[in-house]
Amino acid sequence: MAEPDVLPPLPSSVLVVGSGGREHALVKAIAQSPRAPRLLAAPGNPGMAMEGALCRAVAADDITGLVELAREEQIEFVVVGPEVPLALGLVDQLAQAGIPAFGPKADGGELEASKIRTKRLLQKYGIPTAPAAEFDEVAPALAYLRERGAPIVIKADGLAAGKGVIVAGDLGEAETAVRDMLEGNKFGASGSRVLIEDCLTGDETSLLVIVSGRDYLILPTSQDHKRIGEGDTGPNTGGMGTYSPADIVTPELWHQIEQEIVRPSVEGIADEGIDFRGTLFIGIMLTAEGPSVLEYNTRLGDPETQVVLPRLGCDVLELLWRATHGCLRGFDLQVSTRSALCVVIASAGYPGAYAQGDVIGLPEPLPANVAVIHAGTRCDDQGRLVTAGGRVLGVTALADSLQEAADAAYATCERIECVAKTYRRDIGARQLRPAR
Ligand code: AMP
Ligand code: GLY
Repeated sequence: MAEPDVLPPLPSSVLVVGSGGREHALVKAIAQSPRAPRLLAAPGNPGMAMEGALCRAVAADDITGLVELAREEQIEFVVVGPEVPLALGLVDQLAQAGIPAFGPKADGGELEASKIRTKRLLQKYGIPTAPAAEFDEVAPALAYLRERGAPIVIKADGLAAGKGVIVAGDLGEAETAVRDMLEGNKFGASGSRVLIEDCLTGDETSLLVIVSGRDYLILPTSQDHKRIGEGDTGPNTGGMGTYSPADIVTPELWHQIEQEIVRPSVEGIADEGIDFRGTLFIGIMLTAEGPSVLEYNTRLGDPETQVVLPRLGCDVLELLWRATHGCLRGFDLQVSTRSALCVVIASAGYPGAYAQGDVIGLPEPLPANVAVIHAGTRCDDQGRLVTAGGRVLGVTALADSLQEAADAAYATCERIECVAKTYRRDIGARQLRPAR
């Protein structure tokens, strides 16, 4: 598996699956490839259309529709953004149709779609992770909770759009979470099995690893801001902003994480018989005892992608194509020493209820080092750009220092007109001088 093959010529037509900021950033990077492929997106968004991608209204979870679209349009390469089509076997179906795709098949996608599957793999290969037990019945789960005590973490096994993890501060909260999942059907089938794991403390970080069988390349470090409020307060979101590089991952820590986590993960996945070709996104808690795996995702991060891709000097299309064809070894990512920062502009109310359809006014021209990445936008019937989601835009800047990137991104955020916009003012603050 993944033996270096002869690399076929780069594709002349590419379909990007998804409709968020991550996928817009992918479209933007692929559009810059010297190969200049014809670009389609499904379902895409107005930002991707502005990059020249033809957006086709096929949903990211419509596997049959996507395969048909790829066939009809004679697509030579599919890049899958989100996790759901991966877990549903889109890449397997495309392979049957003879169309190569970046992203794992369903057996690899399961590492994100089942936390129990991942925990078993981590334990089997001795990769550091919190002790845990799995349950599908309430009584033994409650007994285990009492035995371990609080704080403790309850995880719905399956995909739950980032909401299936409860970090319970006391046993009452933990019991409620267990009952909600196992008896109350709160996450449907995703919560019919739960993982109960010890609560870890420390700083959180993540690494994006491009994997091709037993070969891998670690992408530049980045740091997300998951909470809605400044100072990391309030509820969790999909991510309110990112920066890269993340100094928290020192060269020593990078080395330790590579030795203790990345390499054994890639080897373990291959030893399980999974021919993984895609992104392994490893969530890590930096505990006092060392780095420990919280989870695997099997796709690029959003909004991590928005700051990582602009720092690559290589052809991103070639990188993804090589990973898909087992030809990753020796490829040079050409990571820039410049810093990138992305501020997510959300609809007021997010991650709770929010209004949609607010008209957005984008400043023009933008500074050359700033990009406005679309996430939840659409064009209304009068052709106006309007809000269409919780996370609306990601304003990304690239500069010689993180401070300059932050200044440029925030100056553009201020110029974006939208009645109900909200964004955190402290993206990157931990790594910047305190004056913002
Ligand atoms: P996950 O989807 O497994 O990454 O969990 C989502 C979030 O829950 C993580 O980003 C952490 O903030 C938190 N979390 C997950 N597992 C643990 C743990 N064992 N201890 C403490 N916090 C955790
Ligand atoms: N930003 C976190 C994620 O993509 O899951």
